[in-house]
Amino acid sequence: MIENSPYKVVRGSAGQSLSFYLEDCIEGMKRNLRSKTVNVVVTSPPYNIGIKYGKHDDNLPKLKYLEWMQEFGREIFRVLKDDGSFFLNIGNTPKDQWIAWDVAQSLRDEFHLQNVIHWIKSIAIRKEDVGNYPNIVGDVAVGHFKPIVSKRFLNDCHEYIFHFTKSGETKLEKLSIGVPYQDKTNIGRWKNATSDNRDRGNTWFIPYETIQNKNERPHPATYPSKLPEMCIRLHGLGRKKKLMAVDPFLGIGATALASLKLGVSFAGFEIDKQYMDEAIARVLAMKKQQLYVHPT
Ligand SMILES: C[S@@+](CC[C@H](N)C(=O)[O-])C[C@H]1O[C@@H](n2cnc3c(N)ncnc32)[C@H](O)[C@@H]1O
Repeated sequence: MIENSPYKVVRGSAGQSLSFYLEDCIEGMKRNLRSKTVNVVVTSPPYNIGIKYGKHDDNLPKLKYLEWMQEFGREIFRVLKDDGSFFLNIGNTPKDQWIAWDVAQSLRDEFHLQNVIHWIKSIAIRKEDVGNYPNIVGDVAVGHFKPIVSKRFLNDCHEYIFHFTKSGETKLEKLSIGVPYQDKTNIGRWKNATSDNRDRGNTWFIPYETIQNKNERPHPATYPSKLPEMCIRLHGLGRKKKLMAVDPFLGIGATALASLKLGVSFAGFEIDKQYMDEAIARVLAMKKQQLYVHPT
């Protein structure tokens, strides 16, 4: 096995290293990552829906695409620790509502599907449906909502985050991303409701970060860095020392930013130099601001 030297290594404030590889992720993981060394993978692959990436062809024949996803999944299985977590973000298009599930199916031979999380990008809640709750005084409509013109399709306001594990037995730190009770009288009502922090469940409202102009997000398909941050926290920072996170489809580095912030070591792979350079620039900018917040 011949290792490639990384394109760039950045040291985090917790002493962790973040390594960036400018190469194909399957080949790159084979060359650079040893088996069973990774605690958590958070990634979003190309969805094969014709997005105009700089280097990647997002219009593969469906079968070829799914075979590629399967091969990628096998490589993730190899590098993941036995109690590791593999969070795969993927969405559908109005015309093809099977994409996410087809990709999930292609990973079925290898992985247990331990949780299915819905990344909610936009939600509207009418006051009349909420009832008499403190702090909710009117209708709520929050998040990024881009109307589509269609008589057939609803606006797509969510994507999936599939949480795959090797055994289905991976223990999580659910309360690290918990939420306060809306109705405080619930505290103490159940045996395990001992504080004002409950399991958030599998619907995660995460809006896109607000940007002033397009140049601030020079990539056609990113997720907010809060998403990988929540995945890594859920997998668990508290009980594990020296966590290692990987994003095989780095893009402009949202998972790298989350890893830097959480004091976690990281390896990222990307075939497009422009995205890679942007990811590294964002990481260096965050490092400069010293946004390191390891919670333990
Ligand atoms: C959906 S985007 C990921 C975006 C990322 N999550 C972010 O927030 O910036 C998929 C990325 O995978 C990259 N890519 C495509 N094929 C690849 C391959 N074989 N190896 C590594 N990266 C690849 C594309 O260039 C694209 O940036």
